[in-house]
Amino acid sequence: MSEAHAPISAIASAEVPRHVAIIMDGNGRWAAARGLPRGEGHRRGVEALRRTVRAAGELGIDVLTIFSFSTENWSRPATEIRELMGLLRRFIRHDLADLHRNNVRVRIIGEREGLEPDIARLLVEAEELTRANNGLTLVVAFNYGARQELARAARRMADALAQGSLKRDEVDVETIGRFLDAPDLPDPDVIIRTSGEQRLSNFLLWQSAYSELVFVQTYWPDFDRAALEGALQEYGQRVRRFGGLVARTGS
Ligand code: FPP
Repeated sequence: MSEAHAPISAIASAEVPRHVAIIMDGNGRWAAARGLPRGEGHRRGVEALRRTVRAAGELGIDVLTIFSFSTENWSRPATEIRELMGLLRRFIRHDLADLHRNNVRVRIIGEREGLEPDIARLLVEAEELTRANNGLTLVVAFNYGARQELARAARRMADALAQGSLKRDEVDVETIGRFLDAPDLPDPDVIIRTSGEQRLSNFLLWQSAYSELVFVQTYWPDFDRAALEGALQEYGQRVRRFGGLVARTGS
């Protein structure tokens, strides 16, 4: 990752949202189209991730959330799960120092319980090492499902109610938000999904209430800065009213 901050090129600063979330889809199809094993698609997907993190920092995006492993992904064949876990291990071991040097703060959302102990430790290490950084916040949604996150929030709220630190009448939209996995982060302004699929697949269901959705045909391993800028240009053309009549900016 380079230290240099490239100027915003094709896109205007008004098109740079505060929080971009990405559903990185199409690794398997990218590989199949080339007669390669799916694992090769995932490996190239990690390279696309590195490019995208760099581009997001250069463009001045505050928060980048990536869907790296969903609760539902456990139903994939054991060999593919092993490969994905191996890639996460390698991503954290090899890229963490680089992310830290580039002032990236890593946050993890998702269920920690039941993860292999070394993976759970790596996730904590990534968060601890980068805690004080104030550049790009990279939120890795790992072992993540939005309904499961809402169930966790409900359990935390039930505990707070039982302990008396929360009262029944205080339970409103804002309070629920405070019990989610990363309560301090802004909602995503835009969610980008690659590979042509057009659905949220249990990703950030609460936080996406007013997010713009941008679907691009590119398979994730081919995603790069130009593809990100293209998606942000499409976002920049949307008029966001948040249920009202007047256009507003998201941040
Ligand atoms: C979707 O492609 C992608 C995933 C299930 C995982 C995304 C993972 C990476 C980009 C690499 C791993 C990165 C980390 C940090 C662990 P798909 O396999 O669903 O593709 P398909 O729909 O074409 O089969």
